[in-house]
Amino acid sequence: MNDNVLGVMGAGTMGSGIAIVGLLAGFETWLLETDQEHLDSGVQRIRQFLDGSVRRGKISSEQKDSLLAKLHPTADARELHECGYLIEAIFEDVDMKRSLFRDMNAILHPDALFLTNTSTLSVTSIACGTGREDRVVGMHFCNPAAIMKLVEISQGVKTSNKSVQKAKQLAIRCHKTFVLTHDTPGFILNYLLIPFENDCIRALEEGLATVEDIDTAIKTGLGYPMGTFELLDTVGLDVHHAVSMRLYEQLHDPRYAPPPLVQRMIDANLLGRKTGQGFYTYGKAGVFGG
Ligand SMILES: NC(=O)c1ccc[n+]([C@@H]2O[C@H](COP(=O)([O-])OP(=O)(O)OC[C@H]3O[C@@H](n4cnc5c(N)ncnc54)[C@H](O)[C@@H]3O)[C@@H](O)[C@H]2O)c1
Repeated sequence: MNDNVLGVMGAGTMGSGIAIVGLLAGFETWLLETDQEHLDSGVQRIRQFLDGSVRRGKISSEQKDSLLAKLHPTADARELHECGYLIEAIFEDVDMKRSLFRDMNAILHPDALFLTNTSTLSVTSIACGTGREDRVVGMHFCNPAAIMKLVEISQGVKTSNKSVQKAKQLAIRCHKTFVLTHDTPGFILNYLLIPFENDCIRALEEGLATVEDIDTAIKTGLGYPMGTFELLDTVGLDVHHAVSMRLYEQLHDPRYAPPPLVQRMIDANLLGRKTGQGFYTYGKAGVFGG
């Protein structure tokens, strides 16, 4: 086992960002995907980010090349056998995450630390049955992972204190600010954010104010960097719906239930930036706010 080797599983939005974090922190970084096509698009995202860093003068072109030389994309899980840390960023599905960790438990050294980037699932549930219950920790990165400073570290019921200490050291090594949370639905961020976002949507449904005026109030009055509707358009209405539902199912608190407008917008393909239209129409006037 080598503590300078990091494994990232899943090369989607979060996994490719986390791989960049690992590279910039000096890790030899393995990137695992299900197939070559997903690997290629993950590597492409990483290249694009590093090209942008060169253009902005943050790193030289030689540094970019040496970072990319430390990236090892693969579709063969056995190649990750040396990793000291393994971070999963695959689909938000407890059975898939648990089964992947169970498989990786047989491949990696017993002292390797397993981390899950889950947003809404229980770290304890993911860890149970993997054979490594005490060495599984929640490490929730914010999107975009390569840029946002915060990670939430959460301790499952069976996670050892030693594993949490190792996760803290990893966060520091990755130049992240960490907060510690219990293994509760949504940890800190989504526990607070989702009801607030749903309240903003309900305020819009009730005709309290326009999209633009609610966002202006939030940015100018509360000092938030983005308005709620700008944020929802960036995250995607489909993702917001899924996260809200998962928290609602666990917490049984109606504040987490997505308001009806969310499903109507999904049906109309108004998902936000990714479909060119959400609460705002990109490049044109707003959908609801005019
Ligand atoms: N997107 C966000 O804003 C965000 C923020 C924080 C946390 N998260 C969490 O991060 C995780 C990933 O989210 P995402 O948005 O990056 O998803 P995504 O759909 O963009 O990427 C998931 C990737 O995992 C791959 N994958 C699936 N099964 C795999 C396996 N067995 N082995 C290797 N790769 C596999 C898929 O091919 C896909 O490319 C989820 O748990 C999500 O809740 C997402």
